[in-house]
Amino acid sequence: MPKQEQYYLRQNVQVEPLVDQWYAWPHLIPPATTARNIVHRHFKIMDSYINSPQIHASAVKNPKMLGGPFIDYGGKRVDDIRELRECTKRKRAALLELSEAIDSLDAMLRSSAKGYSLHSLYQNVPPALRGYVELVYDLNNHPSFRLIEPLLYRSRYYDPSQQSLMLSMISCDDRPFVLSTPRLGSDDALHLPLAFDDPAVDELFRLKSVPRSWDEIKDMLRISDSQDELLRSFLTPEPPPAYLPYSGPGLRWRYFGHACILLESQGISMLFDPVLSYTYENGVSRYTYLDLPDSIDYVLITHDHQDHILFETLLQIRHKVKNVVVPRNNGGRLQDPSLKLLFQNCGFKNVIEIDELQEIHDGNVHITGLPFFGEHADLDIMTKLAWLVRIGSHSLLFAADSCNIEPQLYEHLHREIGNVDALFLGMECDGAPLSWLYGPLLTQKLDRAMDESRRLSGSNFDQGMHIVHTFHCREAYVYAMGQEPWLNYIMSIKYTEQSRPIVESDRLIEACRQRGIIAERLFGEKEILLEPNPACSEPAMVISS
Ligand SMILES: [Fe+2]
Ligand SMILES: [Fe+2]
Repeated sequence: MPKQEQYYLRQNVQVEPLVDQWYAWPHLIPPATTARNIVHRHFKIMDSYINSPQIHASAVKNPKMLGGPFIDYGGKRVDDIRELRECTKRKRAALLELSEAIDSLDAMLRSSAKGYSLHSLYQNVPPALRGYVELVYDLNNHPSFRLIEPLLYRSRYYDPSQQSLMLSMISCDDRPFVLSTPRLGSDDALHLPLAFDDPAVDELFRLKSVPRSWDEIKDMLRISDSQDELLRSFLTPEPPPAYLPYSGPGLRWRYFGHACILLESQGISMLFDPVLSYTYENGVSRYTYLDLPDSIDYVLITHDHQDHILFETLLQIRHKVKNVVVPRNNGGRLQDPSLKLLFQNCGFKNVIEIDELQEIHDGNVHITGLPFFGEHADLDIMTKLAWLVRIGSHSLLFAADSCNIEPQLYEHLHREIGNVDALFLGMECDGAPLSWLYGPLLTQKLDRAMDESRRLSGSNFDQGMHIVHTFHCREAYVYAMGQEPWLNYIMSIKYTEQSRPIVESDRLIEACRQRGIIAERLFGEKEILLEPNPACSEPAMVISS
């Protein structure tokens, strides 16, 4: 039998992972945060659109409203939105119940838990939550609850059949903001009802580098004949160029945009906060999916924000990833879901949870999780770590959006870890207010002034300079600023030269350069090679996991 022609998935097939047809971000996986977002974000936005589509159409055009709760269909497709709303209401009845139960539980604790034993209150827990929550006080008798998350994932509240993938072609950076507009079907998009943990997801993305026959591909994706033509347009017999891993004696890091950095040394590869651009003709030079090794030893996540955990990228590289390293959560807080459970339920194997000051050793590579303060609106959230990587005599600190609100922290850390050669720091020092991200989780209205005061803001000039000085850094890179044009669809940021994050980071770069420190705000792409240093000294601290 003649060999059938073999096909690859084109490099510019865009894949939108969806939950209830909304663009998937980390709070749409854990059952409790999903429930709150369906009721207090999705329904609110859809109701408002159904009532006043034209208000949405004008708001979307206003740059000041970027990232706001507005549906971007130019005032059209109101019936489709209404249908999606009804369908969600039907299919997600259990989650609507769960969300309401969280409101009732909070109200019950406020009115009945006054410092006396909580035992008798278990009978007043709403039925939807009975057996899924433990009631607790803090040491000052403030009542609250913790969710038993592993059980919730095994309950009727976790329904992966509502997850899907939408495939279409992308050929430029101009991609509209996706977090407030549900994804409706269109003629040029192929909607695959695949749960994120479905092995077919890996098979699909392996197709970018390993070709298969048409029959195999069609079988694997379980599509109907009417979708043949569209699927064929996503395939090509053309093989992609091979990736050349770094094999030098030192280390190489490459900046892929935002907080995404690939570090390769001595046969070990680490990818931080993966967010990648597709490959197409474009204005800004960049690394893309083609610039990843065939196998990635560690994917490291700094924190649970949508610009640092991007399923669109993560699902596409899952088949290459050996280990995912995440910060440990605080056990059952609604606002701090477990990243380990989240990744495991999305089909990732070998998810490693790391505590503050815990370390991973792999050959000559030491990775340590360092405390990460701020940028979470003062909420009790533990899933955030800065990553210190030491390889031989080189040390690099990927601090992401750490906000240096307590300089003493870094003084203490310096005593433990010594100097750091290169600092990577986000300086988005304006930040959105608490409610932008966490609003749907609140069960009581937050005073506007409080909301505005509690922001998701990173370090400013003084805070950043203090870290540079404390660790005697020789290089300082500002990153994670959301400036790359291919990330507009998840970032609600448009800077001008007068924007505070730009002014403050310019000052930091200038001040560093005056002191002989290499400094730059990363944008687009960057590659640095570091030679091995013969005067290699052992690290000051070793805390093994
Ligand atoms: Fe963040
Ligand atoms: Fe960020």
